[in-house]
Amino acid sequence: MGAVLATVVLFFSGIELLNLTLILIALAVGSVIGAIAARKVKMTAMPQLVALFNGVGGGAAALVAVVEYMVHGEADLLFLIFTVATVIIGAVAFSGSIVTYLKLQELMTSRPVVIPLGAPITILVAIATLAGGVWLVLDPQDWLLVALLALSLLFGVLFVLPVGGADVPIVISLLNAMTGLAVAASGYVLDNVLLLIAGTLVGASGTLLTTLMAKAMGRPLTSTLFGAFTAKATGAVGTGEDRPVRSGSANDVAIMLGFANKVILVPGYGLAVAQAQNTLRELAEMLTERGVEVDYAIHPVAGRMPGHMNVLLAEANVPYDQLKEMDEINPEFSSTDVVLVVGANDVVNPAARTDKTAPIYGMPILNVDAAQQVVFLKRSMRPGFAGIENAVLFDPKTTLLFGDAKDSLTKVVASLKNI
Ligand code: TAP
Repeated sequence: MGAVLATVVLFFSGIELLNLTLILIALAVGSVIGAIAARKVKMTAMPQLVALFNGVGGGAAALVAVVEYMVHGEADLLFLIFTVATVIIGAVAFSGSIVTYLKLQELMTSRPVVIPLGAPITILVAIATLAGGVWLVLDPQDWLLVALLALSLLFGVLFVLPVGGADVPIVISLLNAMTGLAVAASGYVLDNVLLLIAGTLVGASGTLLTTLMAKAMGRPLTSTLFGAFTAKATGAVGTGEDRPVRSGSANDVAIMLGFANKVILVPGYGLAVAQAQNTLRELAEMLTERGVEVDYAIHPVAGRMPGHMNVLLAEANVPYDQLKEMDEINPEFSSTDVVLVVGANDVVNPAARTDKTAPIYGMPILNVDAAQQVVFLKRSMRPGFAGIENAVLFDPKTTLLFGDAKDSLTKVVASLKNI
């Protein structure tokens, strides 16, 4: 909103606007694409859209700084410092956000990508970027600006490639904060106070959100910030298809649930994909009517954005008091007869507690493995977002009901009516 105001104000500021037609065409094209994309996006794809919009903002700030440098050239020292800062931060936010987008859209692997000698290369690129920035301020030259832009773009890619699992949402928020800072710096370069204020607000609130998210997910912020500098190859991914699992029918699951005293429902990303929230609520209501104690366990990063499950279940009119946060529900699993995991995987994966090489290691999880029986509704043995095997799927007390979550839940509800 701040950026829109800053743009509108320009038209009335008395500054002579060159290429007015081109500016208006660009504004119209950008607004139409943005509005259509935002209206059409599925809820499950929201984070990647935010990452993309974010990155484009950072890229625009960097380009503005490049153009201003070309126009004003070797202006005063402060102008050069802010130009360099805008180019570096904006370009890192742009290329980093593009990689995050590709990961979330599954156009590339969402697992951490560790390239050979990745850590020393990243350190070298970081040093070269900073040194190039200082050099440009002291001795402005056009080729240096191009090199700085290229190095910053490269650093953005190297910074985000090794990020995976629980660190992805944190890094999106961090890049968002960086875009804010780049816009603020470009406000100085353009002598536009509104951009400076709007950018600083985004930068400050984004930094706060990043710190809070890191805290909620039990990740030291340094592991996200410096992960790229210390990244090592992690354990191999397994699809587990060569190990035995126990699968059951909808009727088996209905019997287990219908005769339980206490059931906990664990919704995840797959519930949102299948749009099965209403059917899950229907199942919960039927169980409650039969005298079963039912709660929903909500993990802070279940799904693909903060609060995803809360919004989804609120949409389906699930009473708010049935939603239990992770810290509140975790002690309950050991006294629970059946846990029904609907399209969740990483947020119930004990590798977060036990496997130091796992990309989700250290993330607090829902301890479903403590329950008497666990039922997973999923379509295949494919892993979740972090791309790692989940030992609970192979546990003898686990039953798998394969299929789309909505179809499976509909069948379970139908079977339960006959029990
Ligand atoms: P995931 O670990 O991604 O697991 C989702 C599961 O749903 C998969 O095992 C998938 O298995 C299943 N699934 C997908 N479509 C389905 C359908 N139509 N019917 C039934 N099952 C379906 O999800 P999670 O446990 O919710 O964990 C969230 C992950 O996303 C974490 O790694 C988190 O860090 C990351 N992330 C979170 C956020 C925020 S802030 N919430 C943002 C970005 C990333 P099949 O393919 O076999 O069906």
